[in-house]
Amino acid sequence: MKIFAIETSCDETAAAIVEDGTKLLSSTIATSKELHEKTGGIIPEVAARKQVESIVPVIEETIKNPKLKMEDIDAFAVTTGPGLIGSLVVGVAAAKSLAFIYKKPLVPVNHLIGHIYANWVESSKLPEFPALALVISGGHTDLVLMHRHGDFKYLGGTLDDAAGEAFDKTARLLGLKKYLGGAELSGLAALCEKNLFEGKLPRPKMRDDDFDFSFSGLKTAVKRLIEGDKSFSGESTEFIQSVAREFENAVGDVVSSKILKAINKYNVKSLVIGGGVAANINLRERLEKDVRGINVSLHIPPMKYCTDNAVYIASAAYFINKPVELEEIDANPALGIMD
Ligand code: KG4
Ligand code: ZN
Repeated sequence: MKIFAIETSCDETAAAIVEDGTKLLSSTIATSKELHEKTGGIIPEVAARKQVESIVPVIEETIKNPKLKMEDIDAFAVTTGPGLIGSLVVGVAAAKSLAFIYKKPLVPVNHLIGHIYANWVESSKLPEFPALALVISGGHTDLVLMHRHGDFKYLGGTLDDAAGEAFDKTARLLGLKKYLGGAELSGLAALCEKNLFEGKLPRPKMRDDDFDFSFSGLKTAVKRLIEGDKSFSGESTEFIQSVAREFENAVGDVVSSKILKAINKYNVKSLVIGGGVAANINLRERLEKDVRGINVSLHIPPMKYCTDNAVYIASAAYFINKPVELEEIDANPALGIMD
């Protein structure tokens, strides 16, 4: 079954065709990131306009690439939320039109669930159930238990900033990129030879029994470190690299400890990670180390499928497979992982 999926939740306009939820046939991504880098943050209006500009060329490119015709597609899928309303409606309108014209079903997909399904695409070993899934992205940090496809039990999530948001805010405090600086901060952490601030940042909620996260205090603690350093001029490489390293370690400690606790409690067979922050090398290595010696298989998507794309939307649509009448499908910017 070939599914054509569209993803336009934020600043990427993406489309993909995936066969049987696992085999990638085509994927295209256009991004308006550079525009938002210039303004130092996302302007929803600008992102939405860019979606309107890119949606048709992205759809055309996706279908022409594997020399397929729209008539060969068995179903369409689209991200309905969460995300920016102006961006989401562009994808939803396009997907509804395609489903209407080609008389095929349309499957609405929750972007957060989509991130989890990146682990089913082009994977040499598919996750087994029960699985513990962590969605760790710019807007969310959610821990869920999966007993089968489409069956999710919420264990916990962030009470304030998402992990990616904390990465981005910390990068900004350090004078790095003003928009989505998570990857850049991580690059600097990797260069740190001696962490001047070992153990100096808090590990919020690490020892609590619940599965919730809180990352906003971390950014405040970084602010205090910066303010306490009279010599900080934005140029002290050792200082910046150390803060970056310590920040990454703090996030890694908290995430790893919550995950191990949940693995223990729910006796899962697989650990499945998804979302932009799953591209973080420190976290990937950390989790690999964590599952060594315990009977749990770790699944983290290749870097290119961690950040936003339509590949995992097509995969989620295949496995969850709940087509909905076109008139009932609408964008929902505030969709939660359990909605
Ligand atoms: O999943 P995603 O592309 O968009 C959302 O659905 O939110 O995630 C974007 C987030 C941003 O906060 C970005 O800084 C972060 O993922 N990110 C990273 C890395 N690459 C992307 N954070 C830490 N290390 C990275 N290598
Ligand atoms: Zn995302």
